[in-house]
Amino acid sequence: AVVTFMSHDGEQHEAPLEEGSSLMQVATNNAIPGIDADCGGEAACGTCHVIVDRAWADKVGRSGPEEEEMLSMNPERQPTSRLSCQVKVCKSWDGLTVQLPEFQM
Ligand code: FES
Repeated sequence: AVVTFMSHDGEQHEAPLEEGSSLMQVATNNAIPGIDADCGGEAACGTCHVIVDRAWADKVGRSGPEEEEMLSMNPERQPTSRLSCQVKVCKSWDGLTVQLPEFQM
């Protein structure tokens, strides 16, 4: 099962979905450009922002309160924005697509 990370200019990078990992870990394990994850997954830096494809938004779920606080400071925030460190992936999400913001803080 793979997830596709799409950069702002349309470049695509695929990574294997590892059950129980966070989407941020999947990205950093596979050197996906644009996910910096400076805080290491504490929902405290906002540098792991992704925009979930609308078709997947319900499956992936919505942001929690801490996450929401970080996201609300981001000018590129979209309705389906998530901090990827707060998303636990499932193998059944094959074909998931997320977009990376133009400027990752
Ligand atoms: Fe810092 Fe996700 S890694 S908020």
